[in-house]
Amino acid sequence: MTTIDTTLGEHTSAAPAQLREHLMELVEQRLREFLRAECDRRSRAHSRAADLVGSIADLVAAGGKRIRPAFCISGYLAAGGDPDDHRVLPAAGALELLHASALIHDDIMDAARRRRGAPTVHERHSATHRLRGWRGEDRRYGEGVAVLAGDLALVYADQFMATAPPLVDALWAELRTELIVGQFVDVHVAAAAELPVDLDLARWIAVAKSGRYTIHRPLEVGAAIAGRPELGAAFEAYGAAIGEAFQLRDDLMDAFGDGQVTGKPDGLDVEQHKMTLLLGLAMRRDLGIRDLVSSGEARAGRLRTRLRETGVRGDVERHIDRLVDEGCRAIAQAPLAAGWREELTEMAHLVAYRDR
Ligand code: IPE
Ligand code: IPE
Ligand code: MG
Ligand code: MG
Ligand code: MG
Repeated sequence: MTTIDTTLGEHTSAAPAQLREHLMELVEQRLREFLRAECDRRSRAHSRAADLVGSIADLVAAGGKRIRPAFCISGYLAAGGDPDDHRVLPAAGALELLHASALIHDDIMDAARRRRGAPTVHERHSATHRLRGWRGEDRRYGEGVAVLAGDLALVYADQFMATAPPLVDALWAELRTELIVGQFVDVHVAAAAELPVDLDLARWIAVAKSGRYTIHRPLEVGAAIAGRPELGAAFEAYGAAIGEAFQLRDDLMDAFGDGQVTGKPDGLDVEQHKMTLLLGLAMRRDLGIRDLVSSGEARAGRLRTRLRETGVRGDVERHIDRLVDEGCRAIAQAPLAAGWREELTEMAHLVAYRDR
């Protein structure tokens, strides 16, 4: 077992990013040890149980950028939280497990076959069913197992959060609910394909299904644990703007990115007519795109080519620039610990201009 020095001692004057990285390593260690112990414990009850718990452990071990724990710990430290006090770690771990749950279920809903460079949980279990020639439908089996794995990851997230200070209970309920409602509206709007296009709704979906639980709420949880709930307003303004920028970048990567780099399939949003700001702007600008989408005959390849031609990519890039600017201005006057304004500004740029 790797041992990590759990105290910072004389390093408490370290740079913000170093302080965060130190706590992030501890979160990684807790996640790894928890999931390993769960695999062992559940497989003692039934040998096959390890397949289910292992699906979560594999997804977490496959990496990911760990944006949510990073913002939670950053919120805590930016609010002046003591780096030698580990009260923020359970909340940071809970956010990554909630994210794992959301990803597993999202991939079923979006019919995605790859995640973090590997087959998605439902895809992997469907393939096992097929290869072994089991009874019933392979798809139903794979999706059924993935529903359970996603639920179990949510239980684990709650288990982690249960050891965080109780003052985050209400925030945690809000965060989980926002995410689920956001995901519902995302799939509902895509399926119902109502016209005319509502750009405000597209932006609302980006923040609700993703921006809030990725940036705004993790910062708020961190600040609350540090005993500085009054930073909530600045973190909300920063988090909503940078959270939207984060999701708009995700949408751009779906349309124009490289699946080899993102580790997920590309073109899925267009194929499923997801009402992203990108598609909304394109449908407004090019009635041909609107007809293709509303006729239900749009083929992803054709739509993607047409999207490139409309030039909406530049519009979304400019919108992201404005959001980054707005988010960074929102924390310009906030009473943050030394160096954290600069660090949060740097983090805003990293999430808004990433390529994976
Ligand atoms: C992907 O999130 C799902 C969205 C909310 C868009 P990330 O881009 O943070 O995925 P990982 O955790 O790095 O794999
Ligand atoms: C999903 O958004 C956000 C959540 C997982 C809650 P997307 O469907 O755009 O995420 P990706 O692109 O599959 O990662
Ligand atoms: Mg998806
Ligand atoms: Mg989705
Ligand atoms: Mg996406």
